[in-house]
Amino acid sequence: MVPMNLLKGGVACYVETGAWSKKAIKEAKKFGEVKVVASSADKNFSYIPDCSDLDIPDNADYVYICENETIHGLTYHKLPNTKGHVLVSDQSSMFLSRPCNVSDYGLIWGGVQKNVGPAGMSIVIIREDLIREDLDDKLPVYLSYNTHADADSLYNTPNCWAIYCCGKVFKYLLKNGGLAAMNQRNEEKAKVLYDFLDQSKFFTGAVVKEDRSLMNVPFVTPSKEQDAEVVAASKTAGFDNLKGHKSVGGLRASIYNAMPKEGVEALVDFLAKYEKEHA
Ligand SMILES: Cc1ncc(COP(=O)(O)O)c(C=O)c1O
Repeated sequence: MVPMNLLKGGVACYVETGAWSKKAIKEAKKFGEVKVVASSADKNFSYIPDCSDLDIPDNADYVYICENETIHGLTYHKLPNTKGHVLVSDQSSMFLSRPCNVSDYGLIWGGVQKNVGPAGMSIVIIREDLIREDLDDKLPVYLSYNTHADADSLYNTPNCWAIYCCGKVFKYLLKNGGLAAMNQRNEEKAKVLYDFLDQSKFFTGAVVKEDRSLMNVPFVTPSKEQDAEVVAASKTAGFDNLKGHKSVGGLRASIYNAMPKEGVEALVDFLAKYEKEHA
């Protein structure tokens, strides 16, 4: 929906940092001119490229980032300098994990299924002046942000169950110190795992220190075979979904808001024991 609504004959600029920004680039190309203004494809998406002085054309309609690359485990700890152009961010896998200054963005979007509620619903926060009424008549009405803004997000029959669950999570967050407290919790939690990986001689984190995600932690052993052996042993020990995404392999621990610190500590205990016994 982003290019359908925000491309106005100019250029759509994208920062390519992993699987989800790559997908967004591919889709945007269906709707107009796309420029990849920075990429970390050269090192298998293990870092966030320098975005302090991007070559953004004057006629750029927006600059798009995937702020947390779920599969590759990268996060922006500093937003790109868009040189006055609209910043669009896919926050699907980090939404509500830390405080966010919404006015830094033109548009934030995300699926709610990681940190907020059940799959099947998404959130969009859009600056009012970016909501357009002059879109192509052929654009299905549902795919215009204006439709949803005009109808107070009730254009279609709402996903009441998902909205109800999200409401519960919002209340939980407010009661527990809000996003600042959640961020602190997430930092403490991720540190447990990253500290372990940093000292391990068997497991290696896949991302440079400065750009590591607090939500998704990809790591590898010295070989694919050993990756598979650890995944199998982790299942036997009662841990689910440690296998890295099929497109990148290795292992990945997703430690979203709902994962308690004790869960990460239990994982580290398992990995440390595995290393001691097998490495
Ligand atoms: C960063 C990011 N963007 C987009 C998506 C796509 O979300 P959905 O599966 O709800 O279409 C995902 C899903 O994991 C994601 O992690």
